[in-house]
Amino acid sequence: MFSITIDLIQLFQLIVLIFLSSILIKILKLFRKRWKLMAAMKPFPGPPAHWLYGHALEFSQDGTDLDKTVTWAKKYPYGHQVWFGPFTAYLAVYHPDYAKALLAISEPKDDVVYRFMLPWIGDGLLINSGQKWHRHRRLLTPGFHYDILKSYVQEIAESTKIMLDKWELLSTSGKSVELYHHISLMTLDSILKCAFSFHSNCQLESNNSYIQAVYELGFLASERFRTFQHHYDLIYYLTPNGIRFRRACNLAHEHTDKVIRQRKEALKDEKELERIKEKKHRDFLDILLVSRDENGIGLSDEDLRAEVDTFMFEGHDTTASGISWLLYCLAQHPEHQQKCREEIHELLEGQEKFEWEFLSNMPYTTMCLKESLRLYPPLPGVSRKLSKPLIFPDGKQVPQGCLVALSIYSLHRHPLFWDDPEKFNPLRFSPENSEHRHHHSYIPFSVGPRNCIGQHFAMNEMKVAAALILNRFALEVDEANPPIKTPQIVLRSKNGIRLKIKKLEK
Ligand code: HEM
Repeated sequence: MFSITIDLIQLFQLIVLIFLSSILIKILKLFRKRWKLMAAMKPFPGPPAHWLYGHALEFSQDGTDLDKTVTWAKKYPYGHQVWFGPFTAYLAVYHPDYAKALLAISEPKDDVVYRFMLPWIGDGLLINSGQKWHRHRRLLTPGFHYDILKSYVQEIAESTKIMLDKWELLSTSGKSVELYHHISLMTLDSILKCAFSFHSNCQLESNNSYIQAVYELGFLASERFRTFQHHYDLIYYLTPNGIRFRRACNLAHEHTDKVIRQRKEALKDEKELERIKEKKHRDFLDILLVSRDENGIGLSDEDLRAEVDTFMFEGHDTTASGISWLLYCLAQHPEHQQKCREEIHELLEGQEKFEWEFLSNMPYTTMCLKESLRLYPPLPGVSRKLSKPLIFPDGKQVPQGCLVALSIYSLHRHPLFWDDPEKFNPLRFSPENSEHRHHHSYIPFSVGPRNCIGQHFAMNEMKVAAALILNRFALEVDEANPPIKTPQIVLRSKNGIRLKIKKLEK
């Protein structure tokens, strides 16, 4: 009996010892990581950091702090270290030369921000890397061929018209209207129709649960990034936000599965299959379902879902942001709004349909769109985890394993590359003024091997929507409710985009 008690005590002591040693090893590992990070970041001094929180407290919880990075970019024009807590640091870069070096390589995306989106959009084109990314990029590129994009213009115009009919009713009140929500529904409707031939009627059905899930997911993923203790899965998924995130993910996935299921069902029909084989009305989902690599292997079900989710996210939230901020800029600048309208009236007068050719005949509106994408880039930043050391043109280097985040928002307002950067001036994009710009000072769609695969689709959609909106409505700012910028992965406004919309006389 006595010896059993001794054994138990010894066993207990052993367990405690193992437990304490493993904690000690963990702590030592963390401090080793910190020491390595500090050495890596030494060439890039930055704003003073709190010993525990680092710079985390500099970022407000609601994310209304984009302009802080612009202030930092003025002080540290190339870039600087940023700490989130004592053990996570990244290099924030703002300079076009640094952007060029970073974007020239197809490094993996960082494993912090993008990891938070992984449960939602899966390992699709936006997130995956290496061989898988090469293969998927090759398989998906035909989905953005000119012939395919051409067939989408009518669908986008249709979706925009549904939205504008709703605006007609709303405009009679004389009060300002929150437009972001409507635009977001419209771009979702468009991407569902264009890419997936899925007619969801989401613009007319109120309280669309998918849209709400997508809002939640964008908001929660960026909130998670800001709250550094939420970076740990174990903690996060026990918090109310973690639970909300899981629930929203399930909802979004159910929606995606439904879209894929319906198409697979439809493809069982001989005529449908014939249509794809003959390349008649091929949409993006057709291409995903029938694509094969050089070994004749197609996408697995898991990959298929990830790509569909990636395109749902990338394909509607980004363009909703682009259109909304364009409208806000034009409302702020009635003189530019009027010039666009004159151009559009001339183009659309007496026309029943929105023709593909119109897209290349609206130069002033295009300049305004480019300028609003400069001031309000829908994806305000991108980041990478380096798989090998990165050497910048000035000779400074960051070692393998480091996180590097490029702020597109601050790059687009960099005082060394833009005169009067805060001013909305579409003429910056006139052909003569565009010539002398640094190639990497304007990159709303990123550049290099991992640039935006959907950029032509996006530009077309934003132009169609802008033209049809300006053709029917005049826009005025609501002085009492200016937008409050907030990067929820996509650049949104905390209080929406509220504008007064007035129907134009015929
Ligand atoms: C105004 C609208 C848009 C903007 C500003 C935009 C911007 C960007 C940016 C900056 C990237 C690089 C992301 C990174 O490096 O992490 C990107 C990648 C991507 N975009 Fe877009 N995007 C827009 C619309 C779209 C649309 C409409 C689609 C699809 C229909 C799309 C699909 C993608 C995909 C799949 C990637 C990942 C490409 C890769 O890594 O190979 N985007 N986009």
